[in-house]
Amino acid sequence: MTSTLEMTTGTGDFGLGVGDGLAEAVVDHSAIQDNVRTLVAQAGVPLMAVVKADAFGHGAVPVARSCLAAGASWLGVTRIGEGVELRRAGITAPMLAWLYDPASADLARAHTIDLSVSSAADLAAVARSHGPQPAHIHLKLDTGMHRSGCPGEDWARLARSSAELERAGIVRVVGIWSHLSHGGQPGAIATHRQLLMFGAGVAIARGAGLHPTVTHLANTAAVQSNPALTRHDLVRVGAGLFGIGEGLRPALTLRTRVVQVRRVAAGRGVGYNHAQRTTRDTHLALVPIGYADGIPRAAAGRAEVWVRDRRAPLIGEVSMDQVVVDVGPEPVAVGDPVVVFGPGVLGEPTARDWARWTDTNEHEIYTGIGQRVPRRHVRQVTGEPSTEGAAA
Ligand SMILES: Cc1ncc(COP(=O)(O)O)c(C=O)c1O
Repeated sequence: MTSTLEMTTGTGDFGLGVGDGLAEAVVDHSAIQDNVRTLVAQAGVPLMAVVKADAFGHGAVPVARSCLAAGASWLGVTRIGEGVELRRAGITAPMLAWLYDPASADLARAHTIDLSVSSAADLAAVARSHGPQPAHIHLKLDTGMHRSGCPGEDWARLARSSAELERAGIVRVVGIWSHLSHGGQPGAIATHRQLLMFGAGVAIARGAGLHPTVTHLANTAAVQSNPALTRHDLVRVGAGLFGIGEGLRPALTLRTRVVQVRRVAAGRGVGYNHAQRTTRDTHLALVPIGYADGIPRAAAGRAEVWVRDRRAPLIGEVSMDQVVVDVGPEPVAVGDPVVVFGPGVLGEPTARDWARWTDTNEHEIYTGIGQRVPRRHVRQVTGEPSTEGAAA
């Protein structure tokens, strides 16, 4: 099943199917699909598309479909609920969830979602859960990130217990995995240590009688900077899907429009506390998007938006629902489109610019886009290829 939606272009009319027409996040699925293809080629092994946190704010279900159609083999989520949402949408690809309440293991099994296991307690909880098949698990070894995973000293015991449960038909150890702390830094000693420990951990698990289908370690940065060393059987890619990385295409454009314009003389204070003053006779445009929509308050006095083919700075504080833009002596009109950020091809700011202006990363800019901003999906190829034979 394949269908294509075309982007609505032109000024003023966003062609929104939902929302109130004040703001929208346009997600270009051709960019996401190009990124999947690029990263699969760079990795040289199958790719798990990490679509946690509503696919970094882009929309989990449509993004998951596009990734699978472009060649992703697995889906990765943090929470079981995120996986259930994908299953309810009819997506059948192999899927892993790695941060969950063990009491919800039944739910994961009912929806054929594999679970990460980092401890004897996790393993016991999963073993107690109910399901028609053995519970599919991926054992996670902490190779040095010290965030989650089984500590090295407990690993052999966890592997042996898992092997016993596997022999009893209670679990199936599909994967062994870990996460890199310095994946994007070629030659980092930390990565070499993690690789050595991971290799040893896999060997110990095999020695305990386990025969995992997939071992996986690398994220986007590791795929792009260290593919030969880190790829193993599968790479877990999140950021890169959305254009965060080298040579990749940002997919999301955050758009709004001018709702009021006023002429203001030089020296006038703008907004709460008159945090900034006009430095010239100018026009101020009111733009209906604020920190409730994902515009960080830290952007005040630093960030720019794109209006009438030029960049114009925010002036004054960021309010919950609105910002003021100093558009200069040349007026703009009510209804003019405003691009907060996009791929950057026209000169508009990018999420990377916003991250720099607000001392954060692009991930936080994307995931911060508020719920009331509708996502519009364009150039989307829906439908997923058959996953028969891919499920482990
Ligand atoms: C455990 C885990 N694996 C893989 C990824 C993907 O990493 P990246 O977004 O850097 O590709 C993430 C986060 O996104 C993660 O939390």
